[in-house]
Amino acid sequence: MEITITGASGFVGRRLSARLMAAGHRLRLLGRTGRLTPGTESANVRAFVWDPMAGPPPAESLAGCDAVIHLAGEPVAQRWSDEVRHRIRDSRVTGTRNLVAGLRAANPVPETLISASAVGFYGDRPSETLTESSAPGAGFLPDVCREWEREAEAVRDLGVRVAMIRIGLVLGADGGALEQMLPPFKMGVGGRLGPGTQYTPWIHLDDLCALFEFALDHPLHGPLNGCAPNPVTNAEFTRVLASSLHRPAIFPVPRFAINLLYGEMAQILFNSQRAVPRAAEAAGFRFKYPDLGVALADVLS
Ligand SMILES: NC(=O)c1ccc[n+]([C@@H]2O[C@H](COP(=O)([O-])OP(=O)(O)OC[C@H]3O[C@@H](n4cnc5c(N)ncnc54)[C@H](OP(=O)(O)O)[C@@H]3O)[C@@H](O)[C@H]2O)c1
Repeated sequence: MEITITGASGFVGRRLSARLMAAGHRLRLLGRTGRLTPGTESANVRAFVWDPMAGPPPAESLAGCDAVIHLAGEPVAQRWSDEVRHRIRDSRVTGTRNLVAGLRAANPVPETLISASAVGFYGDRPSETLTESSAPGAGFLPDVCREWEREAEAVRDLGVRVAMIRIGLVLGADGGALEQMLPPFKMGVGGRLGPGTQYTPWIHLDDLCALFEFALDHPLHGPLNGCAPNPVTNAEFTRVLASSLHRPAIFPVPRFAINLLYGEMAQILFNSQRAVPRAAEAAGFRFKYPDLGVALADVLS
């Protein structure tokens, strides 16, 4: 297949590009620098400059490709100033609208669009098991995810198959949230966040990349929860991570300390989302790392 990927230079995009290259696909990587990321130098890979905020991608980056994978967006895990909040929203909402405008103009139109989304779609839902048919939550991130998905789905009227992967906390080496969590845990001062009763949907990076590949190859459309079938509470996550590192995790981190550090963004660390991958499993997707202990053992090895 000929596949166009936005945000390919990021944590997920780097691993996904490597996996798709190894499977023999031809790739067109879209990013704001237009540079190939290390490891993607190949006759089968081309890079294009695209700033999602500036307008549609260059025509030659979309024409004749079979599928588009859309990952680009301002990082969410940072302190949310007004400016950052605008970038988080606009890079996804305006960025996806611009991508869709490019798809509309492409000749021929690609058959498939698979867009990233996030379990943040569901907001804070302490007492529910969340499947793809659960209603969206309330707040900044749920609103961003809803608008992001709506922009992606707009291209359905051209007959494009659209799937959105609502991604949970991605666990992989060399990046992502785990890279930020590891230093205190390695020092033995990591701890659960507040009460620790909040559910954290998580996924091993390899399973997430396999799920994107699965969505390319199967006639799935609409939302897919991109998280492992066994979400855990933050207290359990803390216990398993500390034990994988053979370190104690005795002292809880008080909520006011996290609020001081991250401001309003801290809210997402306390949101509870017991999301399960019902749509992916119903379609026959099998997780290589369904359990947190095994996933962390692999990532940390
Ligand atoms: N990692 C997770 O745990 C997780 C969880 C839930 C959802 N997701 C979603 O999955 C997608 C991929 O995640 P990731 O962890 O790979 O993200 P990432 O490492 O932050 O990379 C995303 C890419 O987006 C581009 N980008 C960054 N800021 C941008 C901006 N202001 N405007 C336009 N483009 C920008 C960058 O590519 P260039 O510099 O090459 O343009 C960057 O490499 C993201 O949309 C993210 O929200 C990730």
